[in-house]
Parts: sequence; structure tokens; C-alpha cells
Amino acid sequence: MFGVAFLTIRYMLYANANANSGDIMKHNKLTLMVLTCSTLLFTACNSELKKSASQSPSPTAILGAMPEEVEMLEGQLSKKNERSIEGIKFTDGQLMGRNVVIAQTGTGKVNAAMAAAILIENFHPKQVIFTGIAGAVNPQLSPGDIVIAEKTAQHDSGILTSSGLENKGAVSPITGRVNPVFFPADPALLQLAEYAAKNVALKKTKTSEGEKSPGIMKGVVVTGDIFVASPEKCEELRKTLGADAVEMEGAAVAQVCYQLGIPCIVIRSISDNANEKAAEDMEKFYKIAAMNSASMVVGIVENLSPSPEPTVQKHVKKRHK
Ligand code: ADE
Repeated sequence: MFGVAFLTIRYMLYANANANSGDIMKHNKLTLMVLTCSTLLFTACNSELKKSASQSPSPTAILGAMPEEVEMLEGQLSKKNERSIEGIKFTDGQLMGRNVVIAQTGTGKVNAAMAAAILIENFHPKQVIFTGIAGAVNPQLSPGDIVIAEKTAQHDSGILTSSGLENKGAVSPITGRVNPVFFPADPALLQLAEYAAKNVALKKTKTSEGEKSPGIMKGVVVTGDIFVASPEKCEELRKTLGADAVEMEGAAVAQVCYQLGIPCIVIRSISDNANEKAAEDMEKFYKIAAMNSASMVVGIVENLSPSPEPTVQKHVKKRHK
């Protein structure tokens, strides 16, 4: 643009110096036209360039309910860029060379679903990973352990009669069909999580018997708008849904993704045993569990195919095909 302007002005000065007044007017008109056209061309190219940067390969979305569940991941981003939409902070950038967008949803199913929908509408992610802490329902699990959700279900959705709750999915407003009770994890993401599980370094937890190395299992994660601190509820969740862990957001995000056709997986690390000591244990193990879950997410993202660098040349070529 500046080269064109420079040459045009030089031409104008040269022409003016070698012409009579009528010619000068004509030359100056021509010069102005050239400058206007090159400005328009430059503006168009510049906006295409900006568009190409924002249309760089779709990111992987990473969601977590609470600050500690996403902060470690945000801290590892390069090319970081923050944006607030409807009061929710979205941080995009590169994690292990892969395009990602991270958001903290707030707790509970509605908050999680709202943040997921806003993210999907604005960032068009190719997949969604939910990370965070959970209460153990499976008695073999203890703080720091990881549950890779093979499937998720909302434990507070269905028909309540005097014989108890019959779990049912909601009707999708998109298809008009009843959703399944269980949302299966995306098979490719599940495979990546299983692979990541082989190499991930997790933080050990301190127990009365000494330090414990966390274990990783595939299992059933159930979601509801209840913080569970009841062994009786755990027994019921295990009996009715085969639950291994309970939390408050995963299946809500899985439902949004299911209805919109976006691959999704939920990763959780245990912070408590969903019993009378749940609140106390959660305080104690919250940070370790959040970190362990985030480390699993890094392991998954690391094995996604790298995001190619968006280049202007590639974009221009495509437009002229
Ligand atoms: N998240 C962490 N612990 C939980 C529990 N006991 N119930 C529900 N969500 C949780």
C-alpha cells in the first residue's frame, strides 16, 4: 500500500513538473483515483487477513466450573487472548501447539450449559473437554484419582413417583426426540484420554497411611444440581446409574454437545467421597484434584493433531481456486 502511494505521488510530482495546467488537473484526478483504489484494495486485503486469523483452525474448548479448575491450563497458554462475552471470560491461545479456548462456567448444570452454548456459538470448537473435581461414588476411588467419563448422565432428570426416580433424558428442542439417559464420550477423545493416562504425571495425595499415587479409571460420571454429602445417595446413584463419580456440570455440557453434534468428553479427579466429610475433604484435596484433572487434559490436547499456522498466502490461494 505504502509502495503504491509513494510511486503514485512521485508520478504526480513528475507529471506536474512536465505538464501544462490542464494536464496537471487531469494527472491529479488520475492520481487520486489510483490512491483511492489502492486504499480500497488495502482495506479489503487487511480485513481478509484479519478474518483468516480469526478463522484459524477451530479450537478445542476446555471448560471447568471453578477458577482453580482452569487456571493452570490458562497459565500454560501461548498466544493468549482474553475476551468477555455476556460477562464470561473466554481465553484463547495455544496449549502444546494446539488451538484452544478455555472458560470457567460457574457451578451447576444451567451455568455450565449457558457457558458451553455461548462458547460454541462464538468459537465453533471442534470438540469440548470438561475438566474438574468430583465426589467419589465408587468406594474404590479416593482423592486425586481420575475418572475418564466413558458416559455421563443427569441423576436428577426423569419422572419421580412414590417408588423413586425413573431416570429419563429431556426432549431435544432441535430434533424433537428424547435424549438418552447416558451421553457417551466421543470415541476418539476417549481413546486419546486412555493414551494420555499411560504417561501423565499426577500429584500424589497425603493420606493417613502415607503418600498415595493416584489411579486412573474409565467410568460413569453423574451430574446434578446437588452437592452430594450422603452415603445413602451414593448407594442409590451406584445402584440406579452405575455411577463412579458425582459432580454438577459434566452431563449438562455433554447434553449441549450431543444436541449440537459436537464431540465431548468429561474428565474428573476425586476431591472427596461424597459422604458426611465431603465438604471438609473437598477443601483439603480440591487443588490437587483440579491439577490432576488439568494434567490429564494437557495429555489429551498434546496428542491432538497440531494446529497449522494460519498464513495469508494459503488463504489468498484458496480464494482464487
Ligand atoms: N464436586 C466435588 N465433590 C462433589 C460432590 N460431593 N457432589 C457434587 N459435586 C461435587
